[in-house]
Amino acid sequence: MAEALRAVRGMNDILPDEARLWQRFEDTTRTLLERYGYRNIRTPLLEHTALFRRSIGEATDIVEKEMYSFQDELNGEHLTLRPECTASTVRAVIEHNLLYNGPQRLWYVGPMFRHERPQKGRYRQFHQIGAEALGYPGPDVDAEQLLFCARLWRDLGIAGAVRLEINSLGAADERAAHRAALIEHFAAHRDALDADSTRRLVTNPLRILDSKNPAMQGLIEAAPRLLDHLGDASRAHFEALQSMLREGGLAFTINPRLVRGLDYYNLTVYEWVTDRLGAQGTICGGGRYDGLVEQIGGKPAPAAGFAMGVERVLALMAEMAPAPAAQTDVYVVHQGEQASRLALPVAEQLRDAGIAAVMHAGGGGFKAQMRRADASGAMFAVI
Ligand code: HAM
Repeated sequence: MAEALRAVRGMNDILPDEARLWQRFEDTTRTLLERYGYRNIRTPLLEHTALFRRSIGEATDIVEKEMYSFQDELNGEHLTLRPECTASTVRAVIEHNLLYNGPQRLWYVGPMFRHERPQKGRYRQFHQIGAEALGYPGPDVDAEQLLFCARLWRDLGIAGAVRLEINSLGAADERAAHRAALIEHFAAHRDALDADSTRRLVTNPLRILDSKNPAMQGLIEAAPRLLDHLGDASRAHFEALQSMLREGGLAFTINPRLVRGLDYYNLTVYEWVTDRLGAQGTICGGGRYDGLVEQIGGKPAPAAGFAMGVERVLALMAEMAPAPAAQTDVYVVHQGEQASRLALPVAEQLRDAGIAAVMHAGGGGFKAQMRRADASGAMFAVI
């Protein structure tokens, strides 16, 4: 026998038994997104590498070490399998001049690719459903997107297990002032920094705050907070968002250490987290990215969005809610030549009436067929 070939590590098949849950999740989410006025956009899996370098940022984990990038042997182009879809969406919006028709609410679903170390809830091919609102300065759309998520968690039956953390990253000059204060703080404790943080002190000091190294936590706790460097406009934006959330009945906590792993954010950032999934507990993340459209070559336009990790949401659903019922109503059992000839039109008639019918195919005795009927999850067997 030939050696069996296997799937690429960190990339999963979604088998029919699981696919039912995927479909239920996708249907619920799509219906709800459209109820909020979001329209679907589908962009290619491959983009020019420069798009992600310029948007996500050179000194991020994603760009530094997680992108599936290669040179097209046929024409020499540098290409990357999309690690996320915000950059692609913004690229498409600019390329097709969609903002000419006014602001846009867009959503997408599909696989993303990051070369991370695979573990439960973290894969190399994973899926996101995301939403991007372009041309809206907020904070009203920021609040609306969070209310959307909260409603979705309720509809999916997982609301009890997720909580919302928010923060404000302010404006570029406020981040610059904070960055200077951070460098000063960490440089004063240079011997206490680990190798990663020492490197980030020059490349991206903000990301030191994201360090999971227990030995670094004391130093991180004592670091200057960006919230204390916010100017009036940023503070007003953040406070308006908070009061909208309160009015919407949405509970949240402010996490001043929340910085997100992509460089394009400003003002509002947030994450939905759960304690039920172990280390990979962030099921959804997002925020504002008012500078990105211009950075990618468009006319300046404010924007905000989020993306959820489908595998993680599904894992939480599987933990909390019973699996959805089977979709087959009737299993058609038949034996003998004449009966077999009848089975096909009978099954068709059932489907005409809107009934989900599976016709037995491939022979076998009554007993074996009834066992199949049972396994199909059908409510009735038509004999
Ligand atoms: P992100 O935080 O990098 O943000 O990813 C969003 C979500 O995707 C995460 O919260 C997580 O649930 C899921 N995710 C990320 N990496 C993996 C992985 N390796 N395996 C499984 N799930 C994963 C973004 O991608 C931004 N584009 C979100 C956004 C949209 N911001 C504004 N608009």
